[in-house]
Amino acid sequence: MDKEIIRQIDEHLILRRSTQADAQEVARFNKEIHGEGKWDEIGLVDWTLDLLSGEGPTFTPDDFTLVEDTSSGKIVSACCLISQTWAYEGIPFKVGRPELVGTHKDYRRKGLIRQQFDVLHEWSKQRGELVQVITGIPYYYRQFGYEMTLNLGGGRAGYEAHVPELKEDETEPYTFRLAEEGDIPFLMETYQRGSSRNMVNAVWDEAQWRYELFGKRKYNINRRMIYIIEDQSGKPAGFIGIPPHKWGKSMMLTLYEIAEGFAWTDITPSVIRFLWQTGVRLGEEQDQPQQIFGFWLGEQHPAYDVIDTLLPRKRQPYTYYVRVPDLPAFLNLVKPVLEARLAESSFVNYTGELKISFYRDGIRLKFNQGRLETIDPLRFDEIEGCAANFPPFTFFHLVFSHRNMAEIKQAYTDCTTDKDETMHLLDALFPKKPSSIWDIA
Ligand SMILES: CC(C)(COP(=O)(O)OP(=O)(O)OC[C@H]1O[C@@H](n2cnc3c(N)ncnc32)[C@H](O)[C@@H]1OP(=O)(O)O)[C@@H](O)C(=O)NCCC(=O)NCCS
Repeated sequence: MDKEIIRQIDEHLILRRSTQADAQEVARFNKEIHGEGKWDEIGLVDWTLDLLSGEGPTFTPDDFTLVEDTSSGKIVSACCLISQTWAYEGIPFKVGRPELVGTHKDYRRKGLIRQQFDVLHEWSKQRGELVQVITGIPYYYRQFGYEMTLNLGGGRAGYEAHVPELKEDETEPYTFRLAEEGDIPFLMETYQRGSSRNMVNAVWDEAQWRYELFGKRKYNINRRMIYIIEDQSGKPAGFIGIPPHKWGKSMMLTLYEIAEGFAWTDITPSVIRFLWQTGVRLGEEQDQPQQIFGFWLGEQHPAYDVIDTLLPRKRQPYTYYVRVPDLPAFLNLVKPVLEARLAESSFVNYTGELKISFYRDGIRLKFNQGRLETIDPLRFDEIEGCAANFPPFTFFHLVFSHRNMAEIKQAYTDCTTDKDETMHLLDALFPKKPSSIWDIA
């Protein structure tokens, strides 16, 4: 297949799209740039090979941008765009996920990633993706119009002493088996049920579930081994998801949902025992001793409440970087959610205009009897006298229910409102509600 050249950067460097033939070289590059230890490297190689195989539902083999030094034929910088669908209180929206961003150390600080991001942002726009999201190193992506406004990871952990023991005459009330093809409808329903705890979720369709269960390479860093939890009669009671390799001395659980009619209090002790045993087994296979078990389920999860004392170690979440290049378009899409929130709040049937400044531009929301009639962009010369002012992009903390007005004001003293009612109206439109997202890659 011909290499599609996007741009000649200088005499030797070309920016081009990837092809399937690049798979091994990109995998080697990603391992060298991003790998932190043996299992991380294995996971990165499997992930890259999966992406470039063209077998996954969210990626095609030409979705990497690569900078090649034609004098050596080597790839010296790379990133990619993974296309996903997420949902905002149930309303689907398209998301572009720039990932695997890296430059060889001899070629850094020449703007190679900046150039590739221009391309990825253009691709994302062409795909109709209203939002871009990155898991990334601290600070860096702020330079490209991103703000850190959605919880990423976080969880609780315990040690061997916290693993609940079965009583002598007790048999394990819940058992675990790897999910099979026939479990997909149950998994989809149970995942959907748990999704309501989060403001934002990733949408998992059947093809994605199938790919997760049967398509990915064994150690793909983003693969989860999905186990069905069964009660003693063999009825599915829930599911859990576990990474295929240990995170050092820890065995982590990153997904845990239960079906209707079951109780977190009943099932969770069995989950801990299974997690611990899996950690011991994988620890032997992977030469990583088992010392810690963890529930990596975000800032909040029902399991934390029912076994608080068994998970003494707390890790606060990191954050996704979020970019919303056309905020009025995004707010228009989620308008039904905003109107429903208003109807449930003190601002029921509200009529009025809310002008919000981002100091260089802004937006105007016009409400009529609780309906959000228009959402218009405002230019610099139109933002005087706004009811609320936010430094650029900090408004995303509200939009993604990450922080409330009081918290944003505390963090940014140049976030201001004309009166308390404006604060309450903004909090009513965008109530704080943390999300823990199982993103797809
Ligand atoms: C971070 C990394 C991708 C940057 O690559 P790069 O090709 O040097 O990036 P660019 O030159 O395009 O950077 C764009 C801007 O960020 C600046 N910049 C570069 N590295 C930076 C860093 N680590 N922190 C903050 N700013 C940085 C550049 O100076 C440039 O600024 P300018 O446009 O105002 O001149 C590269 O250092 C790398 O591969 N690091 C190791 C892997 C890694 O951490 N990847 C990110 C995973 S999320």
